[in-house]
Amino acid sequence: MKIGFGSDHAGYELKNILKAHLEEKGYECIDYGADGKESVDYPDFGRLVGEKVASKEVDKGVLVCGTGVGISIAANKVKGVRACVCSEPYSAMMSVKHNDANIIAVGARVVGEDLAKLIIDSFFEASFEGGRHQRRVDKICNIEK
Ligand code: RB5
Repeated sequence: MKIGFGSDHAGYELKNILKAHLEEKGYECIDYGADGKESVDYPDFGRLVGEKVASKEVDKGVLVCGTGVGISIAANKVKGVRACVCSEPYSAMMSVKHNDANIIAVGARVVGEDLAKLIIDSFFEASFEGGRHQRRVDKICNIEK
């Protein structure tokens, strides 16, 4: 699986930690920035990773900003993106099982490094259940039409 990463300055360090964590597990990881701790604007990176996921250049995305909120809102403006901000593993798992989420966002100022790793592990270990959930996801997709 190919995973695209994006962050702003606040999420830069945690993004690198999570990228290394997933690389160790054998995932192919592509970093779309930010490239340092100097101040940048989170919508640029949320949008970029959202577009990479929507165009299927990568299979899924991981976004990190201070709260995970702004960058996930930006990504969700891209058609085809279902980004969720999660601060615990259960929601991360269910966002895939029931909502077919394709991007996970975490807040570097909200969760610690170890919890963030658990959150993204839960996200990537889960599979979409389909069935009645497909109908509901289809209804979400229809909003974009
Ligand atoms: C940057 O200070 C901060 O606003 C950003 O990282 C994020 O938390 C926005 O949602």
